[in-house]
Amino acid sequence: MRTQVGIVGGGPAGLLLSHLLHLEGIASVVLERRSREDLETTVRAGVLEYGTAELLKEVGVGERMEREGSVHHGIELRFDGLGHRIDFADLTDGLSITIYGQQEVVKDLIRTRLETGGQILFDSEAESVHDLDTDSPKVRFLADGEEEEISCDYVAGCDGFLGVCRPAVPERARTEYTRTYPFGWFGILVEGPPSTKELIYTLHDRGFALVSTRSPEIQRLYFQCDPHDDTEEWSDARIWDELSARLATRDGWELTDGKIFQKDIVQMRSFVCEPMQYGRLFLAGDAAHIVPPTGAKGMNLAVADVRVLARALIEFYGSGDTELLDAYSETCLRRVWRAQRFSWWMTSMLHRFDRSDPFQLKVQQAELDYVTSSRAAATTIAENYVGAALG
Ligand code: DHB
Repeated sequence: MRTQVGIVGGGPAGLLLSHLLHLEGIASVVLERRSREDLETTVRAGVLEYGTAELLKEVGVGERMEREGSVHHGIELRFDGLGHRIDFADLTDGLSITIYGQQEVVKDLIRTRLETGGQILFDSEAESVHDLDTDSPKVRFLADGEEEEISCDYVAGCDGFLGVCRPAVPERARTEYTRTYPFGWFGILVEGPPSTKELIYTLHDRGFALVSTRSPEIQRLYFQCDPHDDTEEWSDARIWDELSARLATRDGWELTDGKIFQKDIVQMRSFVCEPMQYGRLFLAGDAAHIVPPTGAKGMNLAVADVRVLARALIEFYGSGDTELLDAYSETCLRRVWRAQRFSWWMTSMLHRFDRSDPFQLKVQQAELDYVTSSRAAATTIAENYVGAALG
C-alpha cells in the first residue's frame, strides 16, 4: 500500500491531520489499533481552547460542537471556603473556551473523513516504522492477523505515549524530560443536572477537586487521589462525601449529586520528547508530550501540533520547500513548553503534595489569593487557559 502521509494513530491528532491534508488534496492513511466504537466511546478531556474551537469551525468539523458544546467565559477558583471567578471574557478581550468531549471531536472527525473517502484502518495495530532516514519510510501493521505495510513520503506519529513511533527514534537522537506527581485524579461521570454554570477548581486541606460537565444531563467530576487507589474501593457514598467536603463553602454551597455511571483514575505526568522529529518521522500529540490534566491542555496541544505539521506538509507538496518541516520541532516545542509550564504550575498550586505540611497549604492559598485578586495575575491564568498566551 502506498500513500503520501502515513498517519499512525486515529485520535484527535491523527484524524485532524488527515482532514487538514485532505482539504489541500494530500492523501493519507490513518492506522488505528482500536475499533471505531472503542475510539468513539472512550471518555477523555473536554475543554477546547478558543483557538481549537475556532480551527474546528474553520475546517468544517465544528457544526455539532457549535450546537451541542457549551461556551464558557470563565472558571471559578475555590479555596479557604470561598469562590473567586476568573473572568476570561473581561481579561482576554472576549475569548472563551468550549466544553465538548474529546470523543465527540473524534466522532465528528471520523464521520467527516469517511464521508469524503478518507482511509481510516480501524483494528489495525502499527508494529514498527522503518527507513525513516530515507525518502520512502514505511509503517508495518497487523490487520486481521496479517502483516501489511504502508510506504509513504512522511510518517506522522500520532500514536500516543505508549505507541511505537517515539521509540523508533534512536535513543541517541532524543532527550526526554519527565516529572511524575505523587497523586492521580479520580474521575466520575454522573447522570444528573449540573451543580454550577462554570467549572470549579478547588484546593482543600483534603486535596484538589474539579467540577466539570459534559452536557446539561451528564456531569464530569474529579478529585485528587492516591495514584495506586482502586476504583472498587470507592463506593458512591464515599465519593460524594469526599467531593462535598472538598467543595464546601462558608455560605453552605451544595453539590448536586446524581447517578455515577463510570469511575476511572487518571495518572499525572509531565513529559516532553525533544526533538519531535527524526528523519521523515514527525511526532504529534501524546506521542511527543504529556501534560498533567489540571490546565486542560492535552488535546489542545495535539491540535496545535498537527496544525503546524499540516501547514508544513502543504508547503512541501506545493513547492518542494522543506523550511517549515525543518522548523516543525522548534515551532511546536515553544508552545509545548509554555503549556507544560502552565500545567505544572496549575497542578502545583491546586494539589496537596504532603498533607502533613500546613505551611505549604498556606503558601498555596496565598498564591490563589494573589491570582484571584490581582488583575495582572488573573490575566496570566485567563490567557493561558483560553490558549491566547501559548504562541
Ligand atoms: C476536564 C478535564 C480537565 O483536565 C480540566 O482541567 C477541566 C475539565 C474535563 O474532563 O471536563
